[in-house]
Amino acid sequence: MFESKLPNLGTSIFSQMTALANQFTAINLSQGFPEFDAPELLKKQLNHYVLEGVNQYSPSSGVPRLQQQIAQLAKRKYAAEIDAMQQVTVTSGATEALFVAIQALVRDGDEVIVFDPAYDSYQPAIELAGGKSVNIALQAPSYAIDWQLVASAINNNTRAIIINTPHNPSGKTLKQHDINALKALVAEHDLYVISDEVYEHITFDDNPHLSVLSDEVLFARSFVISSFGKTFHSTGWKMGYCIAPAALAVEFRKIHQYVTFSSFTPVQHALADMLEQQGEHVDELSEFYQQKRDVLSNALKDSRFTVLPSEGTYFLLLDYSDISNLSDIEFCHWLVEQAGVAAIPLSVFYQQPSSDKVIRLCFAKNEATLLQAAEILCQL
Ligand SMILES: Cc1ncc(COP(=O)(O)O)c(C=O)c1O
Repeated sequence: MFESKLPNLGTSIFSQMTALANQFTAINLSQGFPEFDAPELLKKQLNHYVLEGVNQYSPSSGVPRLQQQIAQLAKRKYAAEIDAMQQVTVTSGATEALFVAIQALVRDGDEVIVFDPAYDSYQPAIELAGGKSVNIALQAPSYAIDWQLVASAINNNTRAIIINTPHNPSGKTLKQHDINALKALVAEHDLYVISDEVYEHITFDDNPHLSVLSDEVLFARSFVISSFGKTFHSTGWKMGYCIAPAALAVEFRKIHQYVTFSSFTPVQHALADMLEQQGEHVDELSEFYQQKRDVLSNALKDSRFTVLPSEGTYFLLLDYSDISNLSDIEFCHWLVEQAGVAAIPLSVFYQQPSSDKVIRLCFAKNEATLLQAAEILCQL
């Protein structure tokens, strides 16, 4: 019998729901990927570099002109002074960056504080590094962090805190008081931060994205991670990056070089062109997605769901407690099989599944798809 290192893991709910959506030809608002394509320029430039023969290994930490564009974006958005060559590492998606940052940080017996509902890659990566995740559950509908509770969870083994803002799945953004509280705890207990900011350019209603990059003191102990998949509607390209202070970047790169060595070269050049020539794409993203959020939430106004507020990301949470007593997993199975809409149950994002009756919808879809889904949901 082969002894599994991750005995409790099976096929993720995201794969399961997408398979069910296909099987029942349901509208798939479960997995978080856009229904629309990457920008023309980006595709054209990728094609160009492939045909030009720019097809060999890039430097392990990335193509320098892309590293520079990333540093410039951080300066333009967050007034951060980033040394492109020493602090920016291009990765094969944010997932790789998260995995590598966790391997660099976490030693045998270390504890890492994770906020549930949490993105599903954190915990396995912590466990593979020999650490333990200490999961703090955030409650619907506010999903606010109780920093007193965080303080009480810290002990001598605590090594790091993982934050995610804007937050998948709740759509919450951290506020200045959250950043202040985090900063105080990090300083007091000598902790590190992994800041998952993959939805950094998608915030609504004039809510700013508060990046760890804009706080020099906090950044000094942080790995800041983002994803081009989210920003440029190209999740299948799996391109991301990590920005970290030089001393941490050195450790990050030691592991990155033996996970992938380097990421897809032609797309790195295409991304550099895109950032250089069409920087406005990044600035227009919030408005683009806010409009979609509004289409979906307005279309659900007369439904029996309670729509929870979404301040960022491309997710919307719905409370269905007025419609059904089923658990959220049962409800999502019923929804995809009987009603024809695929969603994700919130409990799968928790280590100790909550009994909240909440599901997540992805609104990175065309308006017609959103309206069609809403029409079905309004009949329930
Ligand atoms: C919170 C969060 N972090 C990380 C990722 C992974 O990003 P990538 O596709 O670039 O690996 C995702 C993707 O869904 C996400 O939602």
